[in-house]
Amino acid sequence: MLKDKHILLGITGGIAAYKSADLVSKLKKSGAKVDVVMTKAATEFVSPLTFQTMSQSKVHFDLFGLESYMEVEHIALAQRPDIILIAPATANTIGKIANGIADNMLTTVVMASNVSILFAPAMNTNMYLNPITQKNIKALKELGHQFMNTGEGRLACGDVGAGKMAEPAEIITYLEDYFTEKDLKGKKIVVTAGPTIEEIDPVRFITNHSSGKMGYSIASIAAKRGAEVVLISGPVDLDPPSNVKIVNIKSTEEMMEAVREHFENCDVLIKAAAPSDFKPLNYSDKKIKKRENESKSMSIELTKNPDIAAYFGKIKEHRIMVGFAAETNNIEEYAGLKMKEKNLDFIVANDITQDGAGFKGDTNIATIYDASGQIESLPLMSKDDLSSFILDKVKLILENRS
Ligand code: PMT
Repeated sequence: MLKDKHILLGITGGIAAYKSADLVSKLKKSGAKVDVVMTKAATEFVSPLTFQTMSQSKVHFDLFGLESYMEVEHIALAQRPDIILIAPATANTIGKIANGIADNMLTTVVMASNVSILFAPAMNTNMYLNPITQKNIKALKELGHQFMNTGEGRLACGDVGAGKMAEPAEIITYLEDYFTEKDLKGKKIVVTAGPTIEEIDPVRFITNHSSGKMGYSIASIAAKRGAEVVLISGPVDLDPPSNVKIVNIKSTEEMMEAVREHFENCDVLIKAAAPSDFKPLNYSDKKIKKRENESKSMSIELTKNPDIAAYFGKIKEHRIMVGFAAETNNIEEYAGLKMKEKNLDFIVANDITQDGAGFKGDTNIATIYDASGQIESLPLMSKDDLSSFILDKVKLILENRS
């Protein structure tokens, strides 16, 4: 989502400047082009060399350096970005920009640019709450500029309160949201993710390798594209995406009930979860003891769980349903059968024997089979890119129906 976006990162003089190194690294990883401009005070906290190395380009800070002056560097810098991000933004720099002062490279670039500015303030609580700072923030917001909320906690000065700079991950999420077209606005999408667990006794359970990454990625990108998203999640170790209603469940039956609750009002159901097909016929409410089992083997009788996709496929009416198939062999045959049995619009098959596909990792390799007989074999790609591809396909079906 930030691929090829040009971001000018202004770093001003606060201790939170050390966090900006992580910010640059995250921006570069997400494919953004980054120019760094530091104030003189910022260079007292972190060396420009750090940012030069991480951004792989020259760091700008000297307005009157001979080289900068000859190139009219501040004008060149002002014309490139899609957004100016100032992180950390001190009360001093916020005040200067709000009052039209351009006395260093950063504030001069800001004056010469007409793009929106995203400020990530970082300062002592009293400075942040000072009516002068608040007046400056209000004035800049009225001009269309944006502010990250500050976090609360123990600040570097020892005070406890508001004024902590937003975490780099939060800033990245904000930027991704800002640059994403809201083309799924007005659509209600239910996504299932992760494994389910079926308890044998209070200690043991049956589950599978699903980490939830595929489903969480779809939910997060759908929300960024403006959809109203309900994410029904089995037990996973992931942070819930922002702007998504999360419903935590454990068993396949609980997942079924959660889907039932949200199915009526949804436009799209995407079943990226790996629900357990079977559960123990009898749950033992006491721990099953080894010593009470004399023989070398024991068996647990299993019974079938409901097939959620198949059940809702029968009553889906106008809704779009997307399924996944995790397969090890005969992929085309099994995926095709599942698509028909579950009445899906399309199914995303992943061959979990391939490196980089299926469970746990950040990438997947998928072949998409759709109800019209079309087959699309996709190369290795990030789960985020696959999510965007799936959502583009959903959008196309929605458009063709309206
Ligand atoms: O979570 P990750 O680590 O990122 O891994 C992603 C994934 C491999 C789990 C995902 O890409 C995937 O393939 N999910 C489906 C796995 C699966 O259980 O496939 P299946 O062939 O058993 O089921 C086919 C479809 O029916 C799936 O959409 C499944 O959600 C659905 N199903 C299955 C069983 C059941 N009782 N009810 C269902 O609705």
